[in-house]
Amino acid sequence: MERLQKVIAHAGIASRRKAEEMILEGRVKVNGNVVKELGRKVTSSDQVEVDGVKIEGEEPVYFLFYKPRGVISSVEDDKGRKVVTDFFRKVEQRIYPVGRLDYDTSGLLLLTNDGEFANWLMHPSNEIDKVYVAKVKGIPSREKLISLARGVMLEDGKTAPAKTKLLNVDKRKDTAIVEITIHEGRNRQVRRMFEAIGHPVLKLKREKYGFLTLNGLRTGEIRELTHHEVKQLRVLAMKKS
Ligand code: URA
Repeated sequence: MERLQKVIAHAGIASRRKAEEMILEGRVKVNGNVVKELGRKVTSSDQVEVDGVKIEGEEPVYFLFYKPRGVISSVEDDKGRKVVTDFFRKVEQRIYPVGRLDYDTSGLLLLTNDGEFANWLMHPSNEIDKVYVAKVKGIPSREKLISLARGVMLEDGKTAPAKTKLLNVDKRKDTAIVEITIHEGRNRQVRRMFEAIGHPVLKLKREKYGFLTLNGLRTGEIRELTHHEVKQLRVLAMKKS
């Protein structure tokens, strides 16, 4: 579901503000009926007309991006820092990230212009596994990793069960590499979980999103999802919602 003015803007007809004016002027119809409220939401199956002409939505596109560290998961930044869409200059569609990775986190990020699809994937009921590899300070004990897996209390509540695996330890540097799989998507969740067990994250990378991996991509690289992958993601998202 998207706001009517956003759909009109995305179709390239007018800016969002101009689209609002068009709605208020009674120039926009949804499924044959004039709509004058700005709050109206529509889906891709609703027929939208502007001045009697049916609008065609932008062709939906779906990308997998290997986000480098030091990039904001946003389409613009008021401080002028690098944003993910800087890597998509050749893409004409107005894409945006599905969820976010922190500025300092690298790894797998999806981008699309399909709002409905993005909302499905981000819905909390869609328990899509995300696999992260974290380099942490200190070497967490088995008990601490078990407590992480069972769920830890954070300021916004207890985390859902996770999976953890100790991949490597560096006794000399007193650091460890831990793989953690979670399906929630709270703000800075992995960092806060490790903080809660006394092993702050030094480096974080998202390796997997559902069945998708970073295989074949180097940092900063992009690939389009295949038709089949998009379908599989839809199935994954629908199963739980
Ligand atoms: N958890 C975090 O702490 N940071 C991310 O970027 C993603 C998950």
